[in-house]
Amino acid sequence: MKITIFGSGYVGLVTGACFADVGNEVLCVDTDEKKIDRLKEGEIPIYEPGLQELVTDNSRKGRLRFTSDSAEGVAFGLFQFIAVGTPPGEDGSADLRHVLAVADTIGQKMDDYKIIVDKSTVPVGTAELVSKRLLSALGERGLSIDYDVVSNPEFLKEGDAIADFMKPDRVVVGVDNPRTKELLRTLYAPFNRSHDRFIAMDIRSAELTKYAANAMLATKISFMNEIANIAERVGADVEAIRLGIGSDSRIGFSFIYPGLGYGGSCFPKDVQALERTSHQHGYDARILQAVEAVNYEQKFSIVKKIKQHFKNELSGKTIALWGLAFKPNTDDMREAPSRRVLEELLSSEAKVRAYDPVAMGEARSIYGKREGLALVETSESALRGADALVIVTEWMVFRSPDFEMIKQELSTPIIFDGRNIYDPDLMEQLGFIYYSIGRMPKGIEVYEAIG
Ligand code: UDX
Repeated sequence: MKITIFGSGYVGLVTGACFADVGNEVLCVDTDEKKIDRLKEGEIPIYEPGLQELVTDNSRKGRLRFTSDSAEGVAFGLFQFIAVGTPPGEDGSADLRHVLAVADTIGQKMDDYKIIVDKSTVPVGTAELVSKRLLSALGERGLSIDYDVVSNPEFLKEGDAIADFMKPDRVVVGVDNPRTKELLRTLYAPFNRSHDRFIAMDIRSAELTKYAANAMLATKISFMNEIANIAERVGADVEAIRLGIGSDSRIGFSFIYPGLGYGGSCFPKDVQALERTSHQHGYDARILQAVEAVNYEQKFSIVKKIKQHFKNELSGKTIALWGLAFKPNTDDMREAPSRRVLEELLSSEAKVRAYDPVAMGEARSIYGKREGLALVETSESALRGADALVIVTEWMVFRSPDFEMIKQELSTPIIFDGRNIYDPDLMEQLGFIYYSIGRMPKGIEVYEAIG
């Protein structure tokens, strides 16, 4: 089948490369000419395991092509995927500017029947808006050409996006035309094998499904972080509680890891956008507000512990920070807890030496040269002369480090672990002062949870 994908960002590229890989002809369109030129040269603008190979291989086979010419894009595919960004507007609601611009372009240039697929995460009612824009663009041309607009939200996780696309838990499609539904079923058939994962529904429900899924997952995380905060105050161990509740199959083990709060491009934005949508429809979504408030505070929780330990005197202290990406296996730092931790430490006049296995380039482009901040090339050099180590992202390489080396490099052996990757008893045996999330610290006499 012939597929055009508008937006060669994270979702558009993964979607395009995966559709091409199963034999479709795919044309990716982006208004950013530099990006398109780089993609034509085989340069991928994002870090995603497996994507480079998939793009190179399918480009070589001629199934995956790139263009900045939107007319060529509209003429090409029966399917016109919209996979452009929906950044949060000032009040947190999704900004649909780019989505609607693509709708206008399609309406201005289409000459035959098209299926327009909303892949971007968009508020309920967007498919209708897209449809109106198409209709009015066609009207201005004095044309009446048939089309369908469908909703097909993505559920890709950064770092696992290719596997998520190739072996999805489900493919959700909001569609009101039975013939178009069958075309989409055929399009997704290569990814829909062991049992039927194709879930068709009405368009509004599909749009809301995406937000409901992300909001539910974000709720699990904030809930668990709240339990961690309670555990610290009553002298309990949140990791034991995690095992205790996760083993109940109704709750499950996934997404109940306490930590420094969720980040990334989806959860923070989508929880806020759903809250705004709900507000606009006259409903006060109190759970969503609480999920967001808990998450906001949680990013700060480790800094509170650092401040308490050093009796609010961070001036002249150096903190080593391991992990800048919002989670492992990505270089994405959007809404990353590391950013809040960094800002708080620097504004308390601490010096920070930060290291991440893949996000150093991203960190450099965000911070440039910043007073008090050293972006260093190895985990070891981050420790040099530091008064404490903070773990912010749970990269595999941080899980089993050379603890003797850490002790030697730090001026005092203190670890603040924002991801609970070490065993507190082991840390105590090794002679560390060890703080983590939702567990009593080790190596200090008296502790009173604060904040
Ligand atoms: C998420 C959804 O998983 C995906 O379906 C959707 O399409 C986009 O948003 P992503 O943002 O890539 O994907 O990351 P994910 O792996 O879901 O993690 C999100 C955040 O939650 C990370 O900051 C992670 O550190 C945090 N998290 C996750 C926890 O703090 N605890 C957990 O138990 C799980």
